[in-house]
Amino acid sequence: MDLTELREVAQAEKERQGSIRVHCCTSTGCRAASSMEVFRNLEAAVEEHQCGDRIEVVSVGCMGFCGQGPLVQVEPGEQLYEEVEPDDAGSIISATVGKGTASTTQLDPHHPFFAYQTRVVRQNSGNIDPESIEEYIAVGGYESLYKALYEMTPEAVVAEISNSGLRGRGGGGYPTGLKWATVAKMPGDQKYVICNGDEGDPGAFMDRSVLESDPHLVLEGMAIAGYAVGANHGYIYVRAEYPLAIKRLQKAIQQAKKYGLMGSQVFDSPFDFRVDIRIGAGAFVCGEETALIQSIEGGRGNPVPRPPYPAEKGLYNSPTLINNVETLANIAHIIREGADWYASIGTEDSKGTKVFALTGNIRNNGLIEVPMGITLRQIVEDMGGGVPDGEVKAVQTGGPSGGCIPKQLLDTPVDYKSLREVGSMMGSGGMVVMDQDTSMVEIAHFYMEFCRGETCGKCVPCRTGTVQLYGLLTKLLKGQATEADLEQMKALSYMVKDTSLCGLGQTAPNPVLSTLRYFPEEYTSLLVKPAYLNGKTAEPKPVSV
Ligand SMILES: Cc1cc2nc3c(=O)[nH]c(=O)nc-3n(C[C@H](O)[C@H](O)[C@H](O)COP(=O)(O)O)c2cc1C
Ligand code: SF4
Ligand code: FES
Repeated sequence: MDLTELREVAQAEKERQGSIRVHCCTSTGCRAASSMEVFRNLEAAVEEHQCGDRIEVVSVGCMGFCGQGPLVQVEPGEQLYEEVEPDDAGSIISATVGKGTASTTQLDPHHPFFAYQTRVVRQNSGNIDPESIEEYIAVGGYESLYKALYEMTPEAVVAEISNSGLRGRGGGGYPTGLKWATVAKMPGDQKYVICNGDEGDPGAFMDRSVLESDPHLVLEGMAIAGYAVGANHGYIYVRAEYPLAIKRLQKAIQQAKKYGLMGSQVFDSPFDFRVDIRIGAGAFVCGEETALIQSIEGGRGNPVPRPPYPAEKGLYNSPTLINNVETLANIAHIIREGADWYASIGTEDSKGTKVFALTGNIRNNGLIEVPMGITLRQIVEDMGGGVPDGEVKAVQTGGPSGGCIPKQLLDTPVDYKSLREVGSMMGSGGMVVMDQDTSMVEIAHFYMEFCRGETCGKCVPCRTGTVQLYGLLTKLLKGQATEADLEQMKALSYMVKDTSLCGLGQTAPNPVLSTLRYFPEEYTSLLVKPAYLNGKTAEPKPVSV
């Protein structure tokens, strides 16, 4: 395969595509609401109307507004049907051929949910069939890999990624170019690229969506990374709870091999690159890079101290580049459009876009991709439409490692530095909105229960500290905790943060500390009443989490 042949595949695919495309989302969110049945009924209706020469029904990935799914979009045009039932399929096709109207409602394409969205990583999501490499090639897929292999040296690729300002989207925000440069300069013939698709944060589904909706984009990013750092073998680590992502990745790898875009002599160049999938059992700690490496090697997913960092000594003791799914999904776009283009999006310290899973007590929920620097208020109130009944009380970002940001700080820009300054973090992209009826102590209790269950148990502060903190929060919620318990909770939180081995323990107390910082009265109001201290039992408060 060379560039001319790649473009011929693209041209043939464009000519094959019907003049009207009916996109039906078959990603996990819509699938759970019967979108496969909708898809099959749409195909049957096209057959019935004998309009298959003009209309093509396409199974596509997530369109973003998952809360309104199943979604069906007709291209070209602005028809976007929401909450489509299998029985609506016939009328949608009838309406498309100009006979009658559809029996389901349409979403306004200018709905506020779509305002501010800047689609880089999610550009193809919802627009192409993720199970067709030809559709990916037709939108320019694999041209960046060709460009990297034939027009750029590995050093130039690393420099381009560095200049783009891209930072890791897995939570830590480490500069991607710097990480690539470290792996590239390590000696040794055997190096690896790992794509971290573990995604263990409760409520997060950004990476699953990217893998399900555009698997070739991630594979292309991995291959470019392999070329840049000198690795010829990649692994994608995905949890078993993501069967559709795994299936689509497997298919994508086979297709890329068939076209000579993966395996030996990629694009007939001297560069070899193969990718294998490793399926994780769904432990949150296995998303931590050193635990993930142990897991791939067949060991127990326990973190190990760093240094040495994986970049120096990682998988099978070889230099290893480990990047998040979303980080890798940015790569092909940066190589194609250039570092300056990417760096023009976002802020000084945080370039590009970020995908968030907007969930919780919010009117419009789903996946959004926004430029860095947008405020929480723009996301929650404008795009999200605020809470259905009442007002926003707080927004939780960063999952179990993050914190709760109160409503008076909604004008905080979404960038790495600003979110840290208010006691939270970007994390991998979970964003949970809470209304006035939410108990912040119960939220802290929920996240501590999660960390207590997910600690690997290797080091004492995290293993016992999370259990102690969970116990103190339970005691508080039962109305049995004293002022001394509250003080112990604070001291323990700092101790667990400061002395745990890995990021899980180091950040586990964050939800407690951030809710204590902004909502102290919710803690003190639950403290034991004097009657209890006098030997009478206090009225226990219900624990609802
Ligand atoms: C407990 C824990 C869980 C993590 N889970 C993930 C995860 O699911 N996905 C991910 O990309 N990074 C996760 N990370 C961060 C990884 O260790 C690593 O920093 C990241 O994969 C690097 O990729 P990036 O530079 O592209 O962000 C986790 C870290 C910790 C401490
Ligand atoms: S901090 Fe927690 S999860 Fe990390 S190694 Fe220690 S016990 Fe395991
Ligand atoms: S899963 Fe269908 S729109 Fe997101």
